[in-house]
Amino acid sequence: MIRRILLSCMVLIAINASAQQPTMDQFITKLMQRMTLEEKLGQLNLPSVGFDVTGPILSEDVEEKIKKGLVGGVFNTFTPVAVRKLQDLAIKETRLKIPLLFGYDVVHGHRTIFPVPLGLSAGWDMDLIKRTAIAAADEASADGLNWTFSPMVDIARDPRWGRVSEGSGEDPYLGSQIAKAMVQGYQGDDLRKNNTILACVKHFALYGASEAGRDYNTVDMSRIRMYNEYLPPYKAAVDAGVATIMTSFNEIEGIPATANKWLLTELLQKQWGFHGLIVTDYTAINEMIAHGMGDEKKVGELSLNAGVDMDMVGEVFIKHGASLVKEGKVSIAQIDKACRRILEAKYKLGLFEDPYRYISEERNKSAIMNTDKIALSKEAAIKSMVLLKNQSQTLPLDATKKIAFIGPLVKDRRNLIGSWSGAGDYKKAVSIWSALEQQNGHKFLYAKGCNLIDDPALRKRLNDHDGQIQAEAASPEQMIAEAVQTAQQSEIIVAVLGEAFGMSGEAASRSMIGLPENQQTLLRALKATGKPIVLVLMNGRPLTLQWENDNCDAILETWFGGTQAGPAIADVLFGKANPSGKLSMSFPRNTGQIPVYYNAKNTGRPFDENQKYTSKYLDIPNTPLYPFGYGLSYTSFTYGEISLDKKTITAKDKIQVSVSVTNNGSYDGEETVQLYIRDLVGTVTRPVKELKAFKKLMLKKGETKEVSFSISVEDLKFYNNELKYAAEPGKFKLMIGGNSKEVKEVEFELK
Ligand code: BGC
Repeated sequence: MIRRILLSCMVLIAINASAQQPTMDQFITKLMQRMTLEEKLGQLNLPSVGFDVTGPILSEDVEEKIKKGLVGGVFNTFTPVAVRKLQDLAIKETRLKIPLLFGYDVVHGHRTIFPVPLGLSAGWDMDLIKRTAIAAADEASADGLNWTFSPMVDIARDPRWGRVSEGSGEDPYLGSQIAKAMVQGYQGDDLRKNNTILACVKHFALYGASEAGRDYNTVDMSRIRMYNEYLPPYKAAVDAGVATIMTSFNEIEGIPATANKWLLTELLQKQWGFHGLIVTDYTAINEMIAHGMGDEKKVGELSLNAGVDMDMVGEVFIKHGASLVKEGKVSIAQIDKACRRILEAKYKLGLFEDPYRYISEERNKSAIMNTDKIALSKEAAIKSMVLLKNQSQTLPLDATKKIAFIGPLVKDRRNLIGSWSGAGDYKKAVSIWSALEQQNGHKFLYAKGCNLIDDPALRKRLNDHDGQIQAEAASPEQMIAEAVQTAQQSEIIVAVLGEAFGMSGEAASRSMIGLPENQQTLLRALKATGKPIVLVLMNGRPLTLQWENDNCDAILETWFGGTQAGPAIADVLFGKANPSGKLSMSFPRNTGQIPVYYNAKNTGRPFDENQKYTSKYLDIPNTPLYPFGYGLSYTSFTYGEISLDKKTITAKDKIQVSVSVTNNGSYDGEETVQLYIRDLVGTVTRPVKELKAFKKLMLKKGETKEVSFSISVEDLKFYNNELKYAAEPGKFKLMIGGNSKEVKEVEFELK
């Protein structure tokens, strides 16, 4: 009896509580009833306040606009002090006291910088990637931020495009897994926690397919390719609950993404059920004037009607929104929808309860660059490295030998943190040289050998954007002579070469993607000494490395490894850590071969060495130099035959697949076992291989492990000739291996 009374009391209390606590919808409806049209349009405005400018226009008079209720959020402002100042204006000086959002490009870490995303993706380690996003959110939120413009999930097959460094490479499946891990990492399970932030998946959509790899360029693509190859990672982010999405600069089917109603309303909102905030990229609305879509007012109308909610930097909505509504060109319902989405984002963050939730000097002190994050940065840098070549076990190095470290990146810190490392401080990054000094004392030889870049025009361009590329007083010839002399005193050369950080990232496309010419000259001179060469690379994109592959004994790809790049590289070079990264993007043999990617179509005349009229080049093979999924280890792995528990499946059951993997080398090591499928006959042509699953495996030397996968009809689905997502009965090839090229295969059938 007492229990029953207690229970009914609790029910009453709960009903009362819910009666008092309005739902998000009720709260926002009530708030919006009090808002003027001008105030609603103000919410749609996202100016930039701070130093990071990525477009030609700067936001002006932002503080005044905040006070007038003409700003919904700002970006490029961080630190508790700076954020508090602006939040105070919104809370204390506006009529409705609506808090601001604070966004920033927290792309691969906030203050503690992790490897560039392309590098991180080469770790194929979802748990690690998620942990880096959790750490980035922890630091960013301790710096006053509550919104990151990340993850960038644009599939990219053209390494001339500098922004490949910001993404996860060429594969839709791997890209989707990473998109999901990052969204979950940033947003956690509750956005109201003070260490979780809104994620923003970008750039919607297809930005990675810019023609000729030139940034901001035209994109033109069939729907079948879009659906099967380019859209999956955005969709995965939406399915993972991403709170916001950014439109891209490019056009799609002739209409810029930012005005593309099919893309933003039909596909994203109606078909995918995305109900979060849609923000434009930096002045993407205004840029549609240059695209030829109309004047400023017209492009504002187009983007609002397409489904855009928030205008980054362009101020088009606050300028023209009211007259567009008055003239009946944009409905008030459309403005209300946009305003609601922005208020919802604030509500989900808990900003209406506490606008200062993310502003804490105390957290700022304890969360930023603490020992855990530094350790994570090193772990991530190690996991991202890809061993491209290791002839005769040149690596790991024997520390008792005389080793010459040569190259402009040996002592460098400026470039280690890569592009899009916004709040990262390169002075906190540890160079290879200081890591070596700390670990091994002063026993190595050193010569710079050449400047990072000698081309004066390129150097100027990069230095105009804080490249800090020095030109030494010594001539290139003198520098090389000194390097050769140093190399001659050594038993082995470690050449540390690569790109300047500004050679990849936004607006950093290259038409030739080799090492800078002066660095190639240095390498050739070192080769002439006859000493073995280990090439350590730092770069933000796949490079063309044919000569380097033919002439160096070992090649270690370290990307731009972040704050702890130096210690991580030192550990790998001397065998304290065993490299295990696998490429997420193919490395072409030369630029003429671009685009080259593993999940290509077969054509009607597949490559045949002995036939003239087949699809090939006369001067190079069709295959890339290093394929997708490729990466060596200090140990070696062998794969057994694939076994299937049955040869046919139906829509209702699954095939259990297993394979044994043996570590038959002399180091413990980690292998990424990759499973690919080919659908042999379809209503549309199907790729020769598609990654469908992978597992990471730690094997002690001499150890064998059985790896199993389970394949269901879901793994066989694709968008067919009617753009329906379905599996088609018939035969399939299933392949397993340690990269996309060297695989074992079996067949099965879907009935
Ligand atoms: C980039 C976006 C970025 C934005 C804000 C743009 O130029 O394309 O990726 O989020 O600037 O900084």
